[in-house]
Amino acid sequence: MSTTSAARSGRFTIGGDLAVNRLGFGAMRVTGRGIWGDPADRAEALATLRRVPELGIDFIDTADSYGPDVSEPLIREALHPYGNLVVATKGGLARTGPDRWIPLGRPEYLIQQAHKSRRLLGVERIDLWQLHRIDPQVPRDEQFGAVKELIDTGVIRHAGLSEVSVEEITAAAKVFPVATVQNRYNLVDRTSEAVLDHCQAQGIGFIPWFPLAAGDLARPGSLLDRLARAHGATPSQVALAWILKRSPVMLPIPGTGKVAHLEENVAAVDITLTDADFAALDAEGRAAFARGGVA
Ligand SMILES: NC(=O)c1ccc[n+]([C@@H]2O[C@H](COP(=O)([O-])OP(=O)(O)OC[C@H]3O[C@@H](n4cnc5c(N)ncnc54)[C@H](OP(=O)(O)O)[C@@H]3O)[C@@H](O)[C@H]2O)c1
Repeated sequence: MSTTSAARSGRFTIGGDLAVNRLGFGAMRVTGRGIWGDPADRAEALATLRRVPELGIDFIDTADSYGPDVSEPLIREALHPYGNLVVATKGGLARTGPDRWIPLGRPEYLIQQAHKSRRLLGVERIDLWQLHRIDPQVPRDEQFGAVKELIDTGVIRHAGLSEVSVEEITAAAKVFPVATVQNRYNLVDRTSEAVLDHCQAQGIGFIPWFPLAAGDLARPGSLLDRLARAHGATPSQVALAWILKRSPVMLPIPGTGKVAHLEENVAAVDITLTDADFAALDAEGRAAFARGGVA
């Protein structure tokens, strides 16, 4: 068996007191097509979740809306009691069908959903709960106020945001301590560079979703392809190694419902990019993004 461990990705302390290995796991893919209903292969999904801590991962990201109500109970079935495993969840998106996600930020709904996540996960208090989207139809301070209430009443320990700007993080931070920010980010999607820099300056954990994407940078003969071959790795693994090196507050959560893919993703921690290779990839990723090459 491989000795690869996510511990090699280094540690980050969420909210000043919740230390995790930086390479985590995204539990969105242990559901059905369109992130709707049960996974096609339930046994494989459970096996994937059970393999997570064996590979040194101690940070799982999920949401009430994954299924909905499929990912959280599956995590509980596979891994409860959690020991030192941190299960972070989210709320604030309603589901009306496969691939349909509707922001719903009414305070009473956010509070109800956090209580429900707590019950489905089987925990006294959720270690990290993130507002999945700021609902544009509800005053944002009402949504931030609900998050503060969840902290004050002990339903959740730390709170974060998802798909937000620096201005929104700053506004939320006036109401509750923002421990994490979860925005789409990868080698070729650099929309959130300013948010990442802000998080690093503030000591906020930055959780990039869709971290494996490399777009056409992975084409045969490219720099990414050559580096992957040199490391005996795949382009996605090198893209993940690049993300981990990008910032010490970076907590990537590659997601899969397959044991073999999970093992492959964790093996990225064994790839050490030189500063020169990191910089060259960085430049190519920024150029691809500027050309509009977001995956
Ligand atoms: N905050 C938000 O709005 C938001 C949005 C989306 C996702 N997320 C979170 O971020 C996590 C990651 O995002 P993501 O799932 O969109 O992106 P990702 O982890 O970059 O990619 C996942 C996709 O790649 C496949 N995959 C994973 N490992 C692979 C491997 N080694 N070889 C080949 N294919 C592989 C998966 O399918 P298989 O299952 O077939 O492996 C899946 O289709 C999610 O699980 C979720 O927790 C958050």
